[in-house]
Amino acid sequence: MTIQPPNPPIGLDGIPAAETALSHVDGLKGELIIAGAPVASLAGRVSFEGLLARLWGLAGVEAATEDEVRSCLAEARLRAHMRLPQLLAASAGLPIVDAFRPALAALGPELGLAPEAVAVGAAPVIAAALVRRAAENQEPVRPDPKLGHAADALRMLRGEPASAAEAAALDAYLVTVADHGMNASTFAARVVASTQANMFAAVTAGYCALTGPLHGGAPEPVLEMLDAIGTPERIAPFVDAALARGERLMGFGHRIYRVRDPRADVLKREVEKLASNRADLTFAAKVEAYAREALRRKNPDRALETNVEFFTAILLDALRIPRAAFTPVFAVARTAGWTAHAIEQSRRGRLLRPSSIYIGPMPADGER
Ligand code: ACO
Repeated sequence: MTIQPPNPPIGLDGIPAAETALSHVDGLKGELIIAGAPVASLAGRVSFEGLLARLWGLAGVEAATEDEVRSCLAEARLRAHMRLPQLLAASAGLPIVDAFRPALAALGPELGLAPEAVAVGAAPVIAAALVRRAAENQEPVRPDPKLGHAADALRMLRGEPASAAEAAALDAYLVTVADHGMNASTFAARVVASTQANMFAAVTAGYCALTGPLHGGAPEPVLEMLDAIGTPERIAPFVDAALARGERLMGFGHRIYRVRDPRADVLKREVEKLASNRADLTFAAKVEAYAREALRRKNPDRALETNVEFFTAILLDALRIPRAAFTPVFAVARTAGWTAHAIEQSRRGRLLRPSSIYIGPMPADGER
């Protein structure tokens, strides 16, 4: 079976926009390769910093070791912390997901740090400061440069040190969702980078595209759905009614995958390892099984399987990250991909400028 793009391909389905050495998604096999390795072999074995070293190297920057990346990110977190008053100035009163956007846009060059390190290092500092500001205006937690990126992110987000198991689970999450082919936010970042605009503009564009519920805005609604269902007896009536109203079930379906998203299983395993009493995997499995069956009934010709966001929601909740911060935490991971793609695009790519099919009025004969 091959996936046929619509004709004409509105939505750019199946149209290659760039060559990339960074990641590859095979939607029929359910395979994701990041920096040359299958995603399942990365999580838990390669740290976020290790993966970043590989991605930035593949994008064309001078090779750095995992330790070098770790110390750049630690320095970038500290610098972002010092600049927080300026970074957060335009975001007062906005929900966390929206407040993250102007803060990213306010980033700028830092002496002695590459722009990609500035952006990736700043992301958890901003996300954590916004979480703390939303929680009764608490002061931001100062980054700890001795910690790895994931452990420090969790510590700053929660205001207390994370256990080794929790830090490892967040690290595995950051690695699993660090990059994913030409997804909508990466494409947005590459479009901006293709104009030779700077790294901060590209990363901000990526984040803007991520926030929508069809992309990275889905995990919070996944959790709301699980809460609203509440008990096993309510699964069938809830799902059936939502589909009858024409609603989309968050955490299911994907533009590319026609089988289960391989990241779902990686994250499910991480939730199992955590064995948190906040994560009811038995209930989640029942919801997942019924939703898949109901989606098969509704769209028998279009495979709609579980995507990464279903288990993202359960994992981030088990880590006690507030749900309002789920999309910025996704961005903490995806800044890896956006920065690498922006570098690759601006070094080897071409101005991205697609065309459109004009369906508007035409001038009268005498006007042309
Ligand atoms: N629930 C119910 N129906 C769905 C779902 C869903 N989750 N996903 C697709 N469908 C239906 C559509 O309504 C459509 O039905 P129709 O032909 O009767 O109108 C059919 O399946 C085909 O849908 P498309 O719009 O062609 O699918 P597309 O490839 O554009 O959508 C998307 C992919 C946006 C992810 C979609 O599956 C969706 O909205 N899912 C829910 C949101 C979500 O989980 N987003 C996170 C995605 S993962 C990520 O970005 C990190």
